[in-house]
Amino acid sequence: MNEEQKQTYLEEYKKEKEDGVKFYPDVIYKDLLVAFGIFLLLLGLAIFMGVAAEPPADPSDSAYIPRPEWYFLFLFQMLKYFPGEIEWIGTVVIPTIAVLALLLLPFYDRSPFRHWKKRKVATAIMGLTVVGIVVLTIVAAATTPPQEETSLATNISDKIVLGQDLYSVHCVECHGAEGEGGEIVGVEGLEGVVVKSISSQDEMYTRSDDTFYAVIDYGQPDLGMPPFGLGYGGELSRGEIDAVVTFMRYTWDDRVEIPEEAAQAGAIPELGPDEIPSYEVHMEPIIKRYCVSCHRPGKKNNNYLMRTYQETMETGDHAPNVIPGDLNSNNILMINRQEIEAGGPMPPTRALKPELIEIFERWVAGGAPETAAEAAALSPTAEPTPTGETEVYPTP
Ligand code: HEC
Ligand code: HEC
Repeated sequence: MNEEQKQTYLEEYKKEKEDGVKFYPDVIYKDLLVAFGIFLLLLGLAIFMGVAAEPPADPSDSAYIPRPEWYFLFLFQMLKYFPGEIEWIGTVVIPTIAVLALLLLPFYDRSPFRHWKKRKVATAIMGLTVVGIVVLTIVAAATTPPQEETSLATNISDKIVLGQDLYSVHCVECHGAEGEGGEIVGVEGLEGVVVKSISSQDEMYTRSDDTFYAVIDYGQPDLGMPPFGLGYGGELSRGEIDAVVTFMRYTWDDRVEIPEEAAQAGAIPELGPDEIPSYEVHMEPIIKRYCVSCHRPGKKNNNYLMRTYQETMETGDHAPNVIPGDLNSNNILMINRQEIEAGGPMPPTRALKPELIEIFERWVAGGAPETAAEAAALSPTAEPTPTGETEVYPTP
């Protein structure tokens, strides 16, 4: 800076100082106002938007992937470049240098100029730091695996019910609805393979939960048991496998007592003597447990899907497979173990229990209603029904 520049600078400085404001109280007052405004904004956000809580911490859950808040991700990412023994470079040395650089700025950047274009060193350092932080944060965010749903089910009953559903979808086709095993029928590639019972006392008493977990996670590929763990190309998260194991243990191990609510939630509701079953209350749990494992997309099933009421009523190469009021519907003939054009007995391996067949028949005969309300309207005992309609459903 030459003398002339200094002169103009000092003059300008003086001028600005004259018509400027005082730090105290003027600037402080302004700051306070802004701070208060931001406080109100935060308060409003907290009250009206809130923050979704993560599931309660669960020390037994090894699937949880801990990550710092986003504004610390860059530091976290740096750790990856300084692994193990040299970790301290990333955690201590570099951050300390950065803080020191900032502290010492007045000492090493003595240029009197304030325009950023004239402060190349400081601008370059700051620019690089900002770019570095942004890049590291982006890299960290991009390489963070998605958090698994850990809060699938938190208490035992919910876990058992979830496990039951998962078992029904993924395991029934090979192991049977009660884990009874036997000869596999209707599963491509394993036709005729005989699997032993996985619900027997032998099995339950000699296999730990960890063993079950490992078998489901990794499978037994040589024996025909596919892997289910996401890590091995399957479809189940750790929490889900855990739920399946919990379901198996509580349902089949006679040394373990199943909690009351879980037993009720998993049970197929009972029917009154004249009651017409509905899809929603009675059929869905039966179909889910005994049929959906094969009758879902991607399985051998004559394109007959049974995941919803609509699918059950409408899909299939030999649709309709349920004709309301007609006990010669494909479904009824097949669960009664007949071989018809649409195929063989259903489920292929083992007959449904007689009481379930009865519910199925009463549902079809009664008009195959979807909702409980529709079923009640169809029930002979409901309202005095117009004559003729009471006889719709035959005595077996
Ligand atoms: C595609 C057919 C198939 C499916 C689906 C299947 N398994 Fe298996 N599983 C097998 C076969 C085959 C074996 C090994 C042979 C045997 O048990 O005789 C086996 C073995 C097992 C065993 C080990 C038995 C033991 O103690 O050695 C367990 C436990 C098991 N399966 C559980 C499951 C569970 C739970 C599911 C659903 C998540 C499932 N399986 C889905 C075919 C299947
Ligand atoms: C182990 C797998 C498996 C299970 C479990 C199973 N099915 Fe099937 N289902 C099949 C296969 C495979 C076919 C194709 C026909 C055949 O091969 O017999 C089929 C066909 C059908 C069809 C004929 C569909 C059409 O339009 O051609 C009906 C109806 C049917 N199943 C009903 C049921 C019902 C009801 C249940 C449950 C109580 C059930 N299935 C459980 C494998 C299964």
